[in-house]
Amino acid sequence: MRHLLDTSDLSVAQIDRIFNDAAYYLRNPKTKLLRDKLILTLFFENSTRTRSSFEVAAKRLGAEMVHLDVAKSSTKKGETLKDTARNLAIMGPDAIIVRHKHSGTPELLANMIDTPILNAGDGAHAHPTQALLDFFTITRHFPNPAGKKIAIVGDIKNSRVAGSNIRLLTRMGLEVILVAPPHFLPSTTLQSAYTLHEVIDEVDIIMSLRTQTERHDSPIYGSLKDYAADYCITKELIGERDIILLHPGPVHRNVDIDDAMMEDSRCKVLEQVKNGVAVRMAVLQHTVIG
Ligand code: NCD
Repeated sequence: MRHLLDTSDLSVAQIDRIFNDAAYYLRNPKTKLLRDKLILTLFFENSTRTRSSFEVAAKRLGAEMVHLDVAKSSTKKGETLKDTARNLAIMGPDAIIVRHKHSGTPELLANMIDTPILNAGDGAHAHPTQALLDFFTITRHFPNPAGKKIAIVGDIKNSRVAGSNIRLLTRMGLEVILVAPPHFLPSTTLQSAYTLHEVIDEVDIIMSLRTQTERHDSPIYGSLKDYAADYCITKELIGERDIILLHPGPVHRNVDIDDAMMEDSRCKVLEQVKNGVAVRMAVLQHTVIG
């Protein structure tokens, strides 16, 4: 794999190899496989988890990391993206990790320079390492995930996490059900529902999403409380069902998931974060040394 712009850049066999290596890194988190390698990050958009997860992953592999401070970078001074990219590439990094608010920016960069580009989230389009770590987490609980049913709940239309997951999980044979109010539902041929009540007895997995208020032109709900009344995943709603609950973070407590469900052992949010480091270690290894 040269670049990772979305999960479609990976064959099923490559995903298998990444997951085998990620499982190994969960047990053996420190190696020096990427000693002497240099990874650059270029985050034009905020990130808490993803940037630190990539950084921990790179450091566990022994690589060096340099973060370009975009707020102070030359792009702010009028340099074009192409020139910024060429200036960074000539410094000889082994990979560049990019996040940008516009869909397609990582692909643009991949077409401009030879350095491998890893997409850490572009607009509402794709977030491949998040989808990989979500699917990896699913396989830890369901070793044969094909045929399992997953409800993706919330602001699906504006979520790059949902986009990448829908493409990956349907390819891997899971049945994806989209649960959202009409204005958060993309046009789709997948099964969809307006409320979780309609499908709760069918599903094995629920993936809750954050309402992407920064991508709405105008406020869609009067308040997040109104949204929560219909879409918050509560302990009451889940009852005793044998379901695992995922969320990419950051979680809006009591809007996306209530406090009681956050503490429930069926909620895998922290496990996702832990798995995320291992999956990103494997992705970096496959990108940098094949
Ligand atoms: C997501 C993102 O930035 O796309 N967060 C993440 O990477 N873990 C989801 C979100 O911001 O809601």
